[in-house]
Amino acid sequence: MAKVSRIPDKHTLMVRTEIEVYASAEKLPKNDQLLLAKAKLAVKNAYAPYSHFQVGAAVRLQNGKIILGNNQENAAYPSGLCAERVAIFQAGALYPNVAVKSIAISCKSIIKPVLEPVTPCGACRQSIAEYELRSGKPIRIIMSGEKGAVYVVNSISSLLPLLFNASILK
Ligand code: THU
Repeated sequence: MAKVSRIPDKHTLMVRTEIEVYASAEKLPKNDQLLLAKAKLAVKNAYAPYSHFQVGAAVRLQNGKIILGNNQENAAYPSGLCAERVAIFQAGALYPNVAVKSIAISCKSIIKPVLEPVTPCGACRQSIAEYELRSGKPIRIIMSGEKGAVYVVNSISSLLPLLFNASILK
């Protein structure tokens, strides 16, 4: 007699994600507010002559250090880098064995006011995931526009479900 498989031919996997929405930066917990203020400062040094979209990021490390980054564009467009990766790579370069606790992101456009939170691009999400997996500790991500609502997630897995990770390589 043929064995009856209990696995259906097809089923749907539902992915649920949770994003905290704060009405404004002032409503954030103090630590997040401070980090976001640093990210806003970092926006000022962005080099974005092509998109005119300036992004700043501030990374808080387990040892209390805060590392800043901003987008660095290039005439050969793909050679530029986003603020999040500039900041997190710099953190990894300076403090290779210290876990990243959180990252705050802010932005400003010369073209029009940004009234919604900027969320990291796919490549930045994958890069943030690498640091989370490296330390084994979740990274809190605080995302804001120029003003208005602020999004917060407690792990990159909320922004990048089913993320690619090195365990599949072994
Ligand atoms: N950018 C960032 O730096 N971070 C983001 O989260 C989104 C996009 C930059 C890349 C480019 O310099 C400009 O914003 C427009 O895409």
